[in-house]
Order: sequence, then structure tokens, then C-alpha cells
Amino acid sequence: MARQRRLPAGIGKDAKTYSSYLAPCYNLSMTTVVAFISQKGGVGKSTLARALAREAVISGLKVKIADLDPDQATIVDWHKVRTQRAIEPVLSVELFRNVAQALAGNRRA
Ligand SMILES: Nc1ncnc2c1ncn2[C@@H]1O[C@H](COP(=O)(O)OP(=O)(O)OP(=O)(O)O)[C@@H](O)[C@H]1O
Ligand SMILES: [Mg+2]
Repeated sequence: MARQRRLPAGIGKDAKTYSSYLAPCYNLSMTTVVAFISQKGGVGKSTLARALAREAVISGLKVKIADLDPDQATIVDWHKVRTQRAIEPVLSVELFRNVAQALAGNRRA
């Protein structure tokens, strides 16, 4: 897990500066997969995924949300509304049928 570092004055106001400052300690040059998984429904998986993705993009990271719930596709619907209303920051969302396809980058949902 990443170690905590106190941000020096001036860092954090600008997304690019913030990202380049964090990169060495969080190893942001590598692709990182964050999964929100629970068998229990309605516990906030989709909500947390959306919130984290938004904050990560604002911090200057390149983010893609893989929605693995084709039956509900709540994040895809959320993304459609954001796109229609030109809401920023712009996020990338794709629907996948399973984890293997998401990691392979195949859109076959
Ligand atoms: N921290 C929170 N506080 C209050 N309400 C929340 C919180 N997180 C999520 N919710 C609400 O709980 C409901 C379920 O959240 P969400 O859709 O994110 O769960 P989920 O685990 O993705 O559900 P599902 O298993 O159906 O996909 C939503 O109405 C959401 O707005
Ligand atoms: Mg969900």
C-alpha cells in the first residue's frame, strides 16, 4: 500500500503537478486495477467506482471504468447522462461481460 506523504505547500492545486508529485510514491506509471466487488447488492459498489474514477481523473490520472454488470449497466447509464450534459471531467466507461474480457479490453457485453 502506498505510504502517506504530506504535500508541500503549493502542491495539490494543479492537477498535473499533483499527479507528478504522487507518481513516485504511488507508482502511478503502472496500470492499477481497483475492483469493487461484493455479492451483496446495493452496498455502494457502483457509487464508489464512480466517485473514485472522477477524483482520479481530476488528479490527472487516465481512468477507465469497466462496468461488469450488463443487466443493470448503471455506470453506463450514468456516463450517458454525463456525456449528454457535457459534464466534466470527461470519463471513459465501457461495459464488459466479465473480468477477463475487461482486462483483455474486449467489448463483448
Ligand atoms: N455512502 C452512501 N451513503 C448513502 N447512500 C449510498 C452510499 N453509497 C451508495 N448509496 C446509495 O445506495 C444505493 C445503492 O448504491 P449502488 O448502486 O452504488 O450499490 P451497488 O453495490 O452497486 O448495487 P448493485 O449490487 O445493485 O449493483 C444507491 O441508491 C446509492 O445512491
Ligand atoms: Mg452496481
